Amino acid sequence: MKRQAIVAANWKMNGSLSLIKEMISALNSVKLAENVDVVVCPPAPFLSAFAVCAQSESLQANIHLGAQNVSEHKSGAYTGEISTDMLNEVSVNYVIVGHSERRSVYKETSTQVAHKVKATLNAGLTPILCIGESEDERTAEQTETVLASQLQPVIDEIGIDKFIDVVIAYEPVWAIGTGKTASPEMAQATHLFIRQFLANANQIVADKVPLLYGGSVNAANCEELFAQTDIDGGLIGGASLKVDEFKIICSSA
Ligand code: G3H
Repeated sequence: MKRQAIVAANWKMNGSLSLIKEMISALNSVKLAENVDVVVCPPAPFLSAFAVCAQSESLQANIHLGAQNVSEHKSGAYTGEISTDMLNEVSVNYVIVGHSERRSVYKETSTQVAHKVKATLNAGLTPILCIGESEDERTAEQTETVLASQLQPVIDEIGIDKFIDVVIAYEPVWAIGTGKTASPEMAQATHLFIRQFLANANQIVADKVPLLYGGSVNAANCEELFAQTDIDGGLIGGASLKVDEFKIICSSA
């Protein structure tokens, strides 16, 4: 079965209005394979501008807009937070949930992440659920335990059947922004574990869920990573800010 492939750009707290325009015009000239979607996740203040520019430039249909975070609450006194309704209003389709920087810097727990995934799905948006182990956890051979502990609360919250609408991004924390990519073999082995973990609950869902790899993906290593059986694309940080490099990554998926 050919799964949906996704290349998602996480700009983190980088970028500008001019980069939005540059990226949209560059992406309009990329030849994407039929089963590939591209998602650009700029900082929240630029979401609206992306949507407007994408419409005026007639951006190709398989390029989507994503947010980097969302509140688990519907509305109310949550200063600084952004709701799913607001994201829907500015044509967002995807939301990154539980990125390791949200977990480590902003102390988001797996339970809170599970609530965010549920809120995202309930609003008709697609969550890109991030999971991954630290360097110490990998060294201590705890990778699988950690990944299971990040996945299980989400399964408990939404039910395994709803996972069919979730995208998972496996990002080993030690590979994020370090230039230290997991080898294709190591990434494949971990993706296979994630797929089997889901298959224990529901084989059909496991076969369908796109599993993205993230962590120092660049133009030089993307092809080999994306060629692995259980790697269905990538969540790209630093390299997604470089228009020409990101185009290469998108065309490799
Ligand atoms: O969300 C993206 C990841 O954190 C990867 O970032 O490609 O800069 O290592 P990176």
